[in-house]
Amino acid sequence: TKIVLLGAPIEAGTGRRGCVMGPDAYRTAGLVEELRALGHEVTDMGDAEPEDARDAKTEFTHLKELEVVAGWTRALHADAKRLGRGDALPIYLGGDHALSAGTVTGHAAAAAEQDRPFFVLWLDAHADFNTFATTTSGNLHGTPLAFACGLPGFDAYLNGPVPVPVNPENVCILGLRSVDGDERRLLQDSAVTAHDMRAIDELGIVPLLRAFLDRVRAAKGVLHVSLDVDFIEPDIAPAVGTTVPGGATFREAHHVMELLHDSGLVTSLDLVELNPFLDVKGRTARLMVDLTASLFGRRILDRATRSY
Ligand code: ARG
Ligand code: MN
Ligand code: MN
Ligand code: MN
Repeated sequence: TKIVLLGAPIEAGTGRRGCVMGPDAYRTAGLVEELRALGHEVTDMGDAEPEDARDAKTEFTHLKELEVVAGWTRALHADAKRLGRGDALPIYLGGDHALSAGTVTGHAAAAAEQDRPFFVLWLDAHADFNTFATTTSGNLHGTPLAFACGLPGFDAYLNGPVPVPVNPENVCILGLRSVDGDERRLLQDSAVTAHDMRAIDELGIVPLLRAFLDRVRAAKGVLHVSLDVDFIEPDIAPAVGTTVPGGATFREAHHVMELLHDSGLVTSLDLVELNPFLDVKGRTARLMVDLTASLFGRRILDRATRSY
């Protein structure tokens, strides 16, 4: 597979400093080398740069760094739309989860041009389904999925409405364990498939993921995966500003990646929320690199049949 890496060192969407170092931490942890060792042709395009979005305004006064987040959204939307037309598979190196406002809507637009149904797998402790009206923290990394699904009030991000909103029926969240009050209402009133940790406890992560992948395959869709570090149990992935206990285990996380690889359906990937300033000797960065390697074909033993 041809793979392109694009760094998106944004930290304005989160309440604290450090995510700006994420892209370089992935490089330092050997992401390029690991993907090449698996036989892929990898091009590191370096880091993207935000646009100037000083026009970004809303009636809300509690939103943090709206102009900076809007600038990144516009730049990454354009980058993702362009990369979505190409033949290489993009991996976006975050940066906080606000970057997905740009990447998801850009890839949705590119998929629409190609008449391909667009699906999103959101691996996260959070739903990131707040709007400007519902966020209580004002941290805009809590909003990208609501924005991408076309919820109202987000015109500041792209200086107008989302060109191709994601169909909420085509979105699956896995790993959920922290949802805000008003955000919960928005999410439950939407057609998004949201599997909380209790669903994973009761049914196992594999059948939940398989059911979604079956839908992507049946629709001949393309699949964007957005992997938030806090999807994983914080004991093994501490380098994230929004840790929530009770996350996916080491094997659950790898298994998801292995099934995604076997499915052959993934067409773009975000790696988000890594905060190297909070890491312990590169441990979380390395885990994220290893998970990415599993998604791109690393395996313990070969399997005769597709396990997906
Ligand atoms: N729901 C909380 C908020 O909106 C936390 C969001 C965390 N998002 C993330 N991408 N880590 O402030
Ligand atoms: Mn750099
Ligand atoms: Mn998130
Ligand atoms: Mn999260």
